[in-house]
Amino acid sequence: MKLIRLHQPLVFLTLLISVTSLAQNNLPQLGKSSVAEVVKAMTLEEKAKMLVGFGFHVPGLPAGLLPPTDPADDSIKDKVPGTSGRLHGVNRLGIPILTVADGPAGVHIWSFDEGPQQTYATAFPNATLLASTWDTALISQLGGAFGNEAKEYGIDIVLAPAMNIQRNPLNGRNFEYYSEDPVLSGNISAAMVKGVQDEGVGVSVKHFVANNAETNRTQLNTIVSQRTLREIYLRGFEITVKKSNPWTIMSSYNKVNGVYTSESKDLLTVILRKEWGFKGFVMSDWFGGNDAVAQINAGNNLLMPGNFNQTKAIISAAKHDSIPGKQLDQSVEQILNIIMLSPTFKYYHYTNNPDLAAHALISRTAAAEGMVLLKNEENSLPFKNGSVVALYGNSSYDIIAGGTGSGDVHRKYTVSLIDGLVNSGFKTEEGLSNLYKQYIQSEKAKQPKPSIMTIMNPPPPIKELKVPDSLFSSSLAHADIAVFSIGRVAGEGRDRKVEDDFNLTDEEKNIIQKLSTTLHAQHKKLVVVINSGSVIETASWRNYADAILLAWQPGMEGGNAMADVLTGKVNPSGKLPETFPVTYADVPSAKNFPGKETGEKPPKTASSINFAKPSVVTYEEGIYVGYRYYSTFNVKPAYAFGYGLSYSKFSYGDLKLSSEAFHDQLTATVTISNTGEVAGKEVVELYLTAPAGKLDKPSIELKGFAKTKMLQPGTSQKISIVLNPKDLASFDTDKLAWIADAGNYIVKMGASSEDIKLSKSFTLAKELVVEKVAKAMAPQVVINELKPGKK
Ligand code: BGC
Repeated sequence: MKLIRLHQPLVFLTLLISVTSLAQNNLPQLGKSSVAEVVKAMTLEEKAKMLVGFGFHVPGLPAGLLPPTDPADDSIKDKVPGTSGRLHGVNRLGIPILTVADGPAGVHIWSFDEGPQQTYATAFPNATLLASTWDTALISQLGGAFGNEAKEYGIDIVLAPAMNIQRNPLNGRNFEYYSEDPVLSGNISAAMVKGVQDEGVGVSVKHFVANNAETNRTQLNTIVSQRTLREIYLRGFEITVKKSNPWTIMSSYNKVNGVYTSESKDLLTVILRKEWGFKGFVMSDWFGGNDAVAQINAGNNLLMPGNFNQTKAIISAAKHDSIPGKQLDQSVEQILNIIMLSPTFKYYHYTNNPDLAAHALISRTAAAEGMVLLKNEENSLPFKNGSVVALYGNSSYDIIAGGTGSGDVHRKYTVSLIDGLVNSGFKTEEGLSNLYKQYIQSEKAKQPKPSIMTIMNPPPPIKELKVPDSLFSSSLAHADIAVFSIGRVAGEGRDRKVEDDFNLTDEEKNIIQKLSTTLHAQHKKLVVVINSGSVIETASWRNYADAILLAWQPGMEGGNAMADVLTGKVNPSGKLPETFPVTYADVPSAKNFPGKETGEKPPKTASSINFAKPSVVTYEEGIYVGYRYYSTFNVKPAYAFGYGLSYSKFSYGDLKLSSEAFHDQLTATVTISNTGEVAGKEVVELYLTAPAGKLDKPSIELKGFAKTKMLQPGTSQKISIVLNPKDLASFDTDKLAWIADAGNYIVKMGASSEDIKLSKSFTLAKELVVEKVAKAMAPQVVINELKPGKK
């Protein structure tokens, strides 16, 4: 009898009967028998296929570009067409096929036809905006909506969150990542995982680890010290794994110190499982790594999207014992343990009809909460009631909701800024708006239709409209205030450039200057909105603007959320999770990004889809990433990590430490008061300055944070943040241990990394060996790491 796992109740009943009769035939069944018994009943072929995915169908991709798939898979119908792939099942043992879909900005179900059968999903704001909320409760709520949507579309695991460190502002995928800081990144990510998994859907936390550039990403060898890896690049993943138990982790494309992460036993078994206690399974990134056998032996359980060569290689290796039987069985068991948690295993009756309206509302709320007000001279914002707005900049009319590549979301609509303002009852200067709309419509008509090619190779941005002089003058004469939007899109597969991307184009600079001069002569204000998923240069032009709102890439409700903040319906409370440097040259990794080609030939078996050339990058800046660098080396940023304004004002008072000496834990408490005139929320950041010991230390490091509730003017809230032993420790490579030096520690409560409001010290009487670890992922070469005081 053939068993098919379907979802209708009738089939469910038949299935139950079938399962029972099979069980009676003494065949173990997943969920009824022990996992070990199920694995024991599997053939070698079945085990091998469990470790190799299938079902990644890309319409329009030239034949032969991808490695061959298992012909037996061709007859298996897609459960949810347009997702990134599936896991094999074994019907006779009650193991269902699971479906995975991208994130991280929402459920990504590919569709290039404009038919009525579209599966639209909610495009949430980009990850960096989410981290800018510094609000873990909100992120869990949004994760709940994301997970629920996935579940209602029949998906078991979302390929999210993505949490690589924003090492350099030019990384094309920074928009998918949270922060330059591992504590912020790890906690926001853990909140997201919790939200999704509480819905009964799994996550795949990616890309593990040090995948910090897109150029040659599948052939990039990252040379990095053990300390830097542990303190910066692994730390956020560690926090997420320990706090939120993700079902799966996705290894990255790159190598670390000469070994592909998906082939690194040090990373996937020693660190992830043994040291951190990870209980789920690891999947590779799509076509990542090079050697299926090495991947399985390293502890990379599942090879995605899977090809026939891999299945054959695993079978042959198992026969010849180059994959030990125990390793093979353990890999399968770890996958089966997760399958049992999945909606498909539980016969969840998905509706294909998630509450998109409710999720859109969450998307809008989060978007407004994560926007960062960078400048607001003379209370230029919020707009005065009844103001007529002259709306400049293409992206005011065609906002950039998110980035490109797998992290894109097939959404039904995107609310533009003009629509958001109109929805809020504001008027825009009509002649100007009409010209922009016509221009964008006609330019878009010239662009290629969306396809797999445009997803990975989006057309260049539409050139900024040159507004005729007469309209320029009349629009500003009629309007009360003007907005200019700067739009930036980036995405998977390529990094950004300095010129005309990180830096403004000449045209953008000209418009800002001209608008500023003309408006100021009429005593009117210029507001600049930055609609970018990543950092741009601001220092050279910010003096021309009266107010600057960093809207990031705010998702499909973006225009409404921008309008909420610009009009004062929402008081901004977002703060920067990433430093805005004065110039690109100030970035500590500028001379080591994205890496250099080695001139070697790419390995033959590597997937041809990535067209990458062997390259190498050395993380010479070491632990001095982001504000750790700017604060320690006294380099003034344009806008500091943790910075963001409000329409209100907050005072910090009464900092208390639970003890003057550190024992097992210490709590810092501070009272935040709203001393302004409107209700608002404040993000409170706890930085720690550790005593100088054997190791060099950054001058400050974020160790905790909290966001107040909505504080009415004149009201206060006590905020408490707990410090644990590991928060005091640095990684000592010689001793292979996290060690907290004895001495004086300073707790610094700040409104940003550069705006410390209150400090208080405590002491640690004796050196504390917080944790001993294994030697793992050590570089084979000497790294000339940056240190304070060293040339
Ligand atoms: C990306 C992953 C993504 C996967 C599946 C890869 O190219 O790097 O982030 O989850 O594709 O779409």
